[in-house]
Amino acid sequence: MNILITGACGFIGSHLVKALQAHRLFLIDDLSTGQQENLEDLNYEKLYISDYFDQDVLDEIFSFKIDAIVHLAAIASVQKCNDFPEKANLVNHLNVIALIKRAKKEAVHKFVFASSAAVYGDEKTLPKTENSIIKPISLYGEGKYNSEHYLMQESNKDFKTYALRFFNVFGPKQDPNSPYSGVLSIFSNLIFSEDKNSLTIYGDGEQTRDFVSVHDVCSFIQYCIEAEVDSDVYNVASGRSISLNSIVALMEKVKAKKISCNYKEARKNDIKYSSADNSKLLATNYKLKYSFEDAFKDYIKSVASKS
Ligand code: NAD
Ligand code: UD1
Repeated sequence: MNILITGACGFIGSHLVKALQAHRLFLIDDLSTGQQENLEDLNYEKLYISDYFDQDVLDEIFSFKIDAIVHLAAIASVQKCNDFPEKANLVNHLNVIALIKRAKKEAVHKFVFASSAAVYGDEKTLPKTENSIIKPISLYGEGKYNSEHYLMQESNKDFKTYALRFFNVFGPKQDPNSPYSGVLSIFSNLIFSEDKNSLTIYGDGEQTRDFVSVHDVCSFIQYCIEAEVDSDVYNVASGRSISLNSIVALMEKVKAKKISCNYKEARKNDIKYSSADNSKLLATNYKLKYSFEDAFKDYIKSVASKS
């Protein structure tokens, strides 16, 4: 198949390029957070360093018959969307609509969109099923919901659409070096670094997240593309939630010593409890390959070996 992946140089994108090596891949990334080195040793037809909305680039790519699109490019941090609202609205919503329209016009057969658990917001009923109340509390979550809503409306038998609500994805290659980075990458990088900085915990540390392995996320995307999966919205999650304080306790076990934490005021628009029901994903016959514990242990080992 000919597949377009946007955001290919990012954390999830680069793992996906690896998972889809059997296909002919057209990649776009503006390198705003991604790195070209993430694609070292991987095969692909061409990487376009540009905004995914660049019409000249899209014209060139669509001159090939594109069978499927995986749209990952986004401002992926809740906090960064708060800081740059106009840009977030453009990249995470308005231009997504335009890309979906273009895909349909070009007779693309499948469109996979990276949505987020952030669409559920802080509404108290847990765990979240795909039918739970949608009440995003951040611009990031709103952009994801509005985009997936449009995508699902456009779905038909010739244009299969998948809105994948990723929970908190973790694994190798997640950039730890920005204040906007995912919490596990920041924490695991810090505990193995030379400088004895303490971890910063925003809030009381009792907030929970469902951390899902990037390998499962990418192999589920692959499954949507290669198998017969119904067009739909799917939670992509491990099905197990854990608090930040418990994560620190697990890290203390691995390090066999106390880790110092600095508790600060909770972040604006931060969700307190996030917990997923992943039974709809499992009903597609996709089998999750990693438990949280195994993926977490492997991840910590991989960070330790690089430090
Ligand atoms: P990432 O920041 O590592 O990857 C995003 C990639 O998109 C980067 O390589 C970046 O350079 C590129 N990009 C950003 N804006 C672009 C633009 N306008 N044009 C072209 N490229 C652009 O983030 P990630 O964690 O790999 O996230 C991938 C997708 O999954 C995002 O849509 C994100 O919102 C979503 N998601 C991630 C998580 C998670 O826990 N990591 C959870 C839920 C949803
Ligand atoms: C993450 C993803 C987002 C995704 C969402 C789905 C990233 C950067 N963001 O958002 O794309 O849509 O999951 O659920 O991966 N925290 C600290 N200390 C830190 C960093 C973070 O205490 O140094 C806290 C945050 O305040 C938050 C929790 O850790 O309570 C998780 O934060 P973060 O990793 O940024 O992810 P989400 O905001 O959940």
